[in-house]
Amino acid sequence: MQQPMQRHLIWDVPTRLFHWTLALSFAGAWLTSEEDQWLSVHVFLGYLMLGLLVFRVIWGLVGSHYARFSSFGFGPQAALTYVRQLIAHRAARHIGHNPAGSWAIYLLLVLAGVVGLTGIFTLGGDEQQGLVAGWISFAQAQTVKQIHELAAIAMLGVVAGHIAGVIVESLIHRENLAKSMLTGTKLAEANTPITRARGGVAAVMGVLMLGFAGWWFFYALHAPLEKQLGLMEGTFKTSNVPFVGRTLADNAQWREECSSCHMAFHPSLLPSRSWVRMMAEQQDHFGSDLYLDEATIAALLTFMRANAADQHATEAAYKIEQSIPPGVTPLRMTETPYWVKKHQDITPAEWLSPAIKSRTNCAACHQDADAGTFEDGAMRLPVTSWLHAPAKR
Ligand code: HEC
Ligand code: HEC
Repeated sequence: MQQPMQRHLIWDVPTRLFHWTLALSFAGAWLTSEEDQWLSVHVFLGYLMLGLLVFRVIWGLVGSHYARFSSFGFGPQAALTYVRQLIAHRAARHIGHNPAGSWAIYLLLVLAGVVGLTGIFTLGGDEQQGLVAGWISFAQAQTVKQIHELAAIAMLGVVAGHIAGVIVESLIHRENLAKSMLTGTKLAEANTPITRARGGVAAVMGVLMLGFAGWWFFYALHAPLEKQLGLMEGTFKTSNVPFVGRTLADNAQWREECSSCHMAFHPSLLPSRSWVRMMAEQQDHFGSDLYLDEATIAALLTFMRANAADQHATEAAYKIEQSIPPGVTPLRMTETPYWVKKHQDITPAEWLSPAIKSRTNCAACHQDADAGTFEDGAMRLPVTSWLHAPAKR
């Protein structure tokens, strides 16, 4: 005889907290993926997802019954059969994860891992920041970034499939599955419940997540919250990437010779061949004679060539160098295709405005121009109308 159905606890609190936090962090990371100013939030959510992932794997081994992998260890065949039955309206109801849902979980866990790890490497290569800063080059980072994006798109696809499955299941079995992932309970026969909600574990998780957020936004990034959230402060665009990449090489002699008429442009802004040409033509440097002797030229060139754009020490260096066609040896950074593209939204009148005066006054808009890094986070734009300029790469 069938036992009477009662409301029973099925999903423990840690599993539910995991589920909804993962969903929110995925959505948040997706929304913050396009604009540089949201990068620190994006990266925070990525680390959070990786942390959640580690928790879920552990919880799949030691958690309560329905959270354990052993309770939903269905093979791919079982998942396909289940989908077929679902289409034919003959699918049996599962109290825990059904075979198709289980596969959505496996795929999501694997994809989240791929997205998280490739994210760390994209950050380390593309921005030269984070845990593996400088481990890979900018060029390698472009490939890793593509994998990162493809895996995220695949993850979105699985999420869509998962949501569709939940809706179909809920309709067929006339129960609100999304709600039971909130409350943790389902109508089930008397012998089915788990015994404890394990709120203590969830509380520890909550404290860890909040602690990490606090550390990340207030301590690690050394910036006030409104800056972290990318809000506008006065007429300045406050950026969201306060963490700084590597410090570039400096040289006293270069500063002395090259900063009297304009700021000392860091050698990483032009390729080696440009500096060689500039030194060869130093008697006619944009109309001025630099009066450099042979020894000075040699010393300057040693520093410039060792730190030229070809060394790819920064994102700007890499992108400037990549944008110059082979065989072209520009003398101006401001004529390189990457520079032109990045500054195309600024009108001639704006260039001439008193706060800027000239294209070569890089420091008017880039706070780290003197250091040569040109980080996204160090941009301070003195004209309000640029606040919404497209920030895509
Ligand atoms: C006597 C003054 C003077 C000195 C010293 C000088 N420059 Fe210049 N430099 C100029 C002028 C003038 C321009 C053109 C500026 C402009 O168009 O806004 C220029 C432009 C440049 C540009 C191109 C900027 C662009 O538009 O992208 C580079 C690069 C440059 N200088 C590098 C150097 C280096 C390296 C040294 C040291 C070896 C140096 N300059 C020393 C006067 C000088
Ligand atoms: C009038 C303000 C202004 C001046 C002056 C200026 N820039 Fe920029 N710079 C910008 C803006 C705006 C962007 C585009 C921001 C974006 O796309 O998110 C930008 C972007 C860049 C980037 C790309 C940063 C990135 O990773 O997105 C580099 C590199 C750069 N500028 C270098 C320079 C150099 C070198 C100079 C001086 C020769 C200079 N800029 C002068 C406003 C300025």
